[in-house]
Amino acid sequence: MSLREDFLWGGATAANQYEGGYDQDGKGLNAIDVMTNGSHTTPRQVTWKKADGQTGTTPLVWGKPFAFPKDAIPTILDDYYYPSHTGTDFYHHLEDLGLLAEMGFKCYRFSINWSRIFPNGDDEQVNQAGLAFYDRVVDTCLRLGMEPLVTLSHYETPLSLVIRYNGWSDRKMIPIFEKYAKTLFNHFKGRVKYWLTFNEINAMDHAPYMGGGLLDTSAQNRAQGAHNQFVASALAVKAAHEIDPNMQVGQMLACSAIYTYTCDPKDALKVMEAQQNELFYADVQTGGRYPEYRLKKYAREGIVLEDCSEDYELIAKYPADFLSFSCYGSHVVTTHENTAQAEGNLGMNGVKNPYLETNAWGWTIDPYCLRLTLNTLWDRYHKPLWIVENGLGWSDELTPDGKVHDDYRINYLKANLKSMKDAVEIDGVDLLGYTMWSAIDLVSNGTGEMKKRYGFVYVDRDDRGNGSLKRYKKDSFDWYKQVIATNGENLD
Ligand code: BG6
Repeated sequence: MSLREDFLWGGATAANQYEGGYDQDGKGLNAIDVMTNGSHTTPRQVTWKKADGQTGTTPLVWGKPFAFPKDAIPTILDDYYYPSHTGTDFYHHLEDLGLLAEMGFKCYRFSINWSRIFPNGDDEQVNQAGLAFYDRVVDTCLRLGMEPLVTLSHYETPLSLVIRYNGWSDRKMIPIFEKYAKTLFNHFKGRVKYWLTFNEINAMDHAPYMGGGLLDTSAQNRAQGAHNQFVASALAVKAAHEIDPNMQVGQMLACSAIYTYTCDPKDALKVMEAQQNELFYADVQTGGRYPEYRLKKYAREGIVLEDCSEDYELIAKYPADFLSFSCYGSHVVTTHENTAQAEGNLGMNGVKNPYLETNAWGWTIDPYCLRLTLNTLWDRYHKPLWIVENGLGWSDELTPDGKVHDDYRINYLKANLKSMKDAVEIDGVDLLGYTMWSAIDLVSNGTGEMKKRYGFVYVDRDDRGNGSLKRYKKDSFDWYKQVIATNGENLD
C-alpha cells in the first residue's frame, strides 16, 4: 500500500460559503457578509455606506490592488444579494455529515465562523449559542468516525475588526486572535486534534480584503498584516501545545507548480520570483524565519515592519506542526508578450498552457501538479504535508431523475490522486491526508456563484438563492467511496 494506513481521506468546506444562518443565534457580521455575488466576468463587490448617507460598492478583482473610499463603512445594503447569508444552509442541515460519513470520510475539514463565537471579534463573553452549534458539528463528526480538521479563520474576519482596525494591519489583532484560538482550544480539548490558523495565508497578497480584512491594502499594510498573522499563528501553536500536547496546528498555503513558458532564462527568473512570493509565507510560518530575499525586497520598497524583536523569537520557536495547502492547477509565467492568458485561484493568472485544458472559469487542469507541488514543499521544509483543497469547479447538471453524471470530476480527481500517490510512493513524501474541495456544493469564493460547483453532493440552489436546497448524490460520490474503502488503491 502506498499511503499510510491512517491516511485522512475526506473533504473540506468553509463556514462563509456553506453555513448560511449569517445573523442567527447571536452571530455578528464578517468580511464576506458584505460581499455581493459576481460571476466569471463580473467581480464580487463590497457594499458600503458613508456617514453622510452616501452608499456605493467597491469591486474586488483578485490579484489587483483596489481603492476603498475613505470613510466608507462596509455594510449590508438593500437591493443586493449576499450569497454568504444563506450559503447552502448547513446551519440547518447537519444531516449532511451523515452523507459525508456514508462516503467513508475519515476526516472533515471545516472552518469556525469567528463572529459566531465572538460577534465583534473581541467581545468579553463568548456567544454560547455559536459555540453550541460547533459542539453539535464536532460531536456528530466524532460519532460518525470523522476526525475534525478545523480552520480558525477562512476569510471570516469579523467585520467589526475590519472597520475598527483595518483588519490584520493592526497588531492589536494578535492578542484578539490569541484569545479566540485559546477559547476554542480549551473548549474542544480532547475532541479536536488538528487545527489550521489562516486559510491560504498568502491571500494577504492576492486578496487582502478577504485574507486580512484590509480596507487599505497598501504594500506596507499587507506586509504588516502578514507579519501579524505569522505572530498570531506562532502564539496559536504555543497555546495549543500547552493546552493539549496532542494538538497539532498547521499552516495553510495556496500553492501550485509554476512553469516557465519558454526556455528564455528571463522566464526562469520570473518563475523563481513567483515561487518566492508563494513560498515566503511557508518559509516564515513553517520554516520559522524570514528569508533574505523578502527582507531585501522590503528594504528596496521602503517597507518597515513594526519593531518587535520578540516576534522573531516566537516565529522561530513555534513553527507550524505541519504544512497544508490548496492546489487546483499549475500556473505559467513569462516575460514575453502576446501570449494567451489563463486564470487561476485567487487571481493567480498567467499564460495559457498549450498542453493543458482549462475549465469554464479558465482554471488549468494539470494531472502532474500535485506531485510537483508536494515534492517542492517536502524538499524545502521536511514537515508532514496535507492536501486540504483540490478539486474541479464545474457547472453540473441535475438530470430529471435526480442524478449528476460528473465523469469530468471523476477524471480530474483520478489523475490528481495518481499524482499524489506518485509523490508518496516514488518520491517518499510524508503525507497526512487529502480533503477534496468541496465535500458538498457551496458558494464559490471567487465569484460568489452557485453554478461553479465542486462537491460530491449536489445542492439544489441557484445563483440568486432560489431552489429547494435538496441534496443529491453525484456519480463522484460512489466513486470516492470506493477510493476511500481501498485506501486509494483502486482509483477506477
Ligand atoms: C480556495 C479557497 O481559494 O479555493 C476556497 O480556500 C475556494 O474558499 C476554493 O472556494 C475554490 O475557489 P472558487 O473561487 O472556485 O470558489
